[in-house]
Amino acid sequence: MKLIIDTDSKTLSVMEGDQTYSYDLYSRKSFEEISRQWVKVGWNEKYQYTFSWMGRPIIQLPEDMIRTQEVIYKLKPDVVIETGVAHGGSLIYYSSLLRAMGKGRVIGIDIEIRPHNRKAIESHEMFDRITLLEGSSTDPNIVNQVKSMVKPEETVLVLLDSNHSYQHVIDELNAYASIVSKDSYIVATDGIMFDLEYVPRGGKNWSVDNPMKAAQDFVAQNPNFTIEQPSWPFNESELGENITHWPGAWIKRVK
Ligand SMILES: C[S@@+](CC[C@H](N)C(=O)[O-])C[C@H]1O[C@@H](n2cnc3c(N)ncnc32)[C@H](O)[C@@H]1O
Repeated sequence: MKLIIDTDSKTLSVMEGDQTYSYDLYSRKSFEEISRQWVKVGWNEKYQYTFSWMGRPIIQLPEDMIRTQEVIYKLKPDVVIETGVAHGGSLIYYSSLLRAMGKGRVIGIDIEIRPHNRKAIESHEMFDRITLLEGSSTDPNIVNQVKSMVKPEETVLVLLDSNHSYQHVIDELNAYASIVSKDSYIVATDGIMFDLEYVPRGGKNWSVDNPMKAAQDFVAQNPNFTIEQPSWPFNESELGENITHWPGAWIKRVK
């Protein structure tokens, strides 16, 4: 594929195989095409490893953080559950939003919470709403512990950000989907992997071994769920698609 940005003629040319598409440079289509490449180059350059929230590293694209904030504010969840803690920045982020909203708690699960990360998370001023669980997110003991911490009438949002292999994400979806409340989501993050197999830091088989495919196969088997990007609460533009590392991630419980 070739992309030619011509600022003189104000066009974007996209060449795929023997087809060439030409767009007004200052258009929705050009923004989406350029963003798709920007996200891939940025992923390779570890742009998502350059942010922190209230002092803790958070391994996310800020666009995804803001879209998640929009969902959290709208849903007003009682519980946010995240698999994959790392340095704890995302847990601190959710906790700070819940603190500002005056409601809700956070459960974070990681197969290994390193002592220095645990110490920093547990001593953080946003820790009061957070519970840390150490173990594999698909270990039945962990899954049962999480389930015992959630009441059936509660509003529950689940984010899956641990091991992003197809099989692990399918296993997580099957383990946690039943605790997601109606109109809330289970989010299979990092589906961008489908588009990264051939970038330098990408992995073998990622075009099929990725969370987006796991999400698609999960909803095909589970009619109570559908893949649906949350609507934007504010939009005075012609745009409509998230700029994201999480394409196809937002799995909504509809029944
Ligand atoms: C991408 S990082 C999480 C980033 C974090 N959510 C953030 O936004 O900053 C992935 C984490 O998943 C954890 N992990 C890997 N396999 C896991 C598993 N089977 N169960 C739980 N956590 C796992 C790793 O230890 C790592 O800390």
